[in-house]
Amino acid sequence: MNRVTQMFAFSKRNPDLPLMGAAYATTQPEIMPFAYGFPAPQAFPVEAFQEAAHSALLLEGTRALQYTGGPGQKQVVSWIIERTPLRGMEAGLHQILVTTGSMQAIDMATRVLTDEGDDVWVESPSFFGTIRSFITNGLNIRSFPIDDEGLCVEELEAALQDAKRLGEKLPKLLYVMPHYQNPSGITLSVERRKKLAELALHYDFYILEDDAYVELNFSGDYIPSIYSFAPERVVYISTFSKILAPGIRLGWAIADSEVIERMKLFKPDGLTSVFVQEVVGQMLQKMDFSAHIKRLNEMYRVRRDVMIAELRRVFGDGITFQVPDGGFFLWVRFPEGVNTTDMLTHALECGVSFLDGQNFYLTGIDGTRYARLCYTYCDEASIIKGVAALHEASIRCRCPQ
Ligand SMILES: Cc1ncc(COP(=O)(O)O)c(C=O)c1O
Repeated sequence: MNRVTQMFAFSKRNPDLPLMGAAYATTQPEIMPFAYGFPAPQAFPVEAFQEAAHSALLLEGTRALQYTGGPGQKQVVSWIIERTPLRGMEAGLHQILVTTGSMQAIDMATRVLTDEGDDVWVESPSFFGTIRSFITNGLNIRSFPIDDEGLCVEELEAALQDAKRLGEKLPKLLYVMPHYQNPSGITLSVERRKKLAELALHYDFYILEDDAYVELNFSGDYIPSIYSFAPERVVYISTFSKILAPGIRLGWAIADSEVIERMKLFKPDGLTSVFVQEVVGQMLQKMDFSAHIKRLNEMYRVRRDVMIAELRRVFGDGITFQVPDGGFFLWVRFPEGVNTTDMLTHALECGVSFLDGQNFYLTGIDGTRYARLCYTYCDEASIIKGVAALHEASIRCRCPQ
């Protein structure tokens, strides 16, 4: 704290936590950044963006640069409407809102659905971005374990029953990442999706379904969203960040039209960049989107496999992880006694970064043996270098080999 700020009482909503996510990214070429949840730069369709920016200005002219209202620009909204049936969903114009990244949609939906002091339930581990949004919104957060089929719904149901029986507060909101969960990479089974939808209807809470990674699906199969089982109790959120580029900051929400109308009132920037939407609209019209997704998934599958092969070769049975069928991350568990926060200091010296597990839990103690490794950003040679550096770091911090 410096002399100017030390007397000032900052908002109590400010979490007393270090920067995370993109805000925390720095460019240190000697460090292999497994910490970043970033797409591969090679995956960005740069030429298509160039052409689309030109077309947007040529065809839309000043309209692409003007203020506007409504759910979002026509071509982007039409694409969302056409794409959602893949997740077993239907969405009309009044149920859609294009937002400045999906993180904004998460924050806006949270403000619409909760008041300070309300209870929200999350998976354990869960995405730190949303946890921080919940903290700044003054919510009480409780977490529930996941297993290899995703959120343990039976435990959640038991907690709901107990709360009701004891006259305790029920949650207003449940936050779930159904596909390739960040950080665990686990996908929620269809049976559990159905069950969660039933519970939301029965116990009268909303589900915030964050489907950021749905298209990054190495098997090519799509399964129904939670929204498809209870559209009146789910806010479905997704993003162009992982499939086109995060720098364009475009995400969207699908929900009941009343929720969408209320969300518009909480939109801090008034509207989502019209120009960016026009550019993306032009692109989506012209590009073969399925072929683009196929290319991305082929690239990411190879990177995932290289990271897995290297981890197994170097660490043997010393570490464990589930093999994710898509998404960005491997969630690695180190042997008993290892503290990944301590290991991170050594890792940075050895030339690799990762996110230590404590960032994904409400209490840091739960995550001490875990590390989230992103396999999408680095190319194969960098992945190999990074895993070697990780191994060196594990030796330096006396991780049992
Ligand atoms: C699960 C999840 N949800 C939301 C986001 C935020 O994405 P956006 O760039 O659309 O704000 C991320 C980004 O990493 C994420 O991993």
